[in-house]
Amino acid sequence: MKEKHINIDEFLKLTDKSHSLSSGTESLIYKSDDNLDVFKFFLIGMNDCVHNKCYILNSVSDITKEYPMPFLMTPKDLVIIDEEGIEPRPVGYTMPFIKGENLETYLLDDNISFDKKKELLTKTGKLLEKMKTMRQETGESFFLNDLHEDNIIVENNTEDLKILDIDSAYVRDSYVAPSKYLLKREFLKNKDKYPKEKENPIYGKQVLPNQNTEYYCYLVMILNTLLQEKLIQERSTLLSYHQLKSYIDYLEKLGLNKEIVTAFKRITENEDNINPYEYIEDIKEMPEASYTRYREYKNF
Ligand SMILES: Nc1ncnc2c1ncn2[C@@H]1O[C@H](COP(=O)(O)OP(=O)(O)O)[C@@H](O)[C@H]1O
Ligand SMILES: [Mg+2]
Repeated sequence: MKEKHINIDEFLKLTDKSHSLSSGTESLIYKSDDNLDVFKFFLIGMNDCVHNKCYILNSVSDITKEYPMPFLMTPKDLVIIDEEGIEPRPVGYTMPFIKGENLETYLLDDNISFDKKKELLTKTGKLLEKMKTMRQETGESFFLNDLHEDNIIVENNTEDLKILDIDSAYVRDSYVAPSKYLLKREFLKNKDKYPKEKENPIYGKQVLPNQNTEYYCYLVMILNTLLQEKLIQERSTLLSYHQLKSYIDYLEKLGLNKEIVTAFKRITENEDNINPYEYIEDIKEMPEASYTRYREYKNF
């Protein structure tokens, strides 16, 4: 990965509030002056953590150089601050700025047609098949860890999808960072399918990303779209383990196609999860599937 060295004045100029795109608990994101790039700065100061992020970014850069995956927002440059008297230190990375909206704005918006939502969900599922093919063809262990709607941008005009937060991927035995849908283990009780990682010195024990967790995050996105609510919140879930099972039975009764029902049921069964992207377009619009309507039906 290329390096971009900046001094502290340039850093301060870049982090001027007027360029701010987003600020989370772990990162700050700014647009470059020419609006072409985005700077993502790590907020965490811990050396181990920055080291792990650099390892992930370098590994992903290596892999995508040999095996291009344009749908991943891979890093362009690693940003290093040069300050007199202090060891140069990595503080973040750059990537192209994508003009678009996060997938969440599409999937959870009443004004977007159900057909459009299905089209975008199908595209997302196809990208996961590309990830799978990449693993088969390269032998690399590289999994998306923090896969959720807010980490996918729908590019304006083309409606191509771009996956963000590649710095929290799991690649080549990197440490596993906490991720939105894998943090809460309500539906991940099956330890064979969703193994807990060995203690990691930075983040503690996290679920080890694998093919099953990638599909799981995607299945959660499909469920969110049907529920028109987020199934998994920061520290809680909208439905308990048993409620989810009964919600899936309810969807089956409503007439949800059997391929999707099977994929949902698999989440809590022993067999591997499946990617039902080919059957998304067959889902009929079911307003009764929404969380509000389901609650009315169940009286809770
Ligand atoms: N390359 C980019 N182009 C356009 N918007 C971006 C880009 N990178 C990040 N963003 C915006 O910033 C938000 C947070 O970025 P992300 O990389 O997911 O950081 P975090 O680690 O804080 O979740 C995204 O949801 C998106 O809206
Ligand atoms: Mg994110």
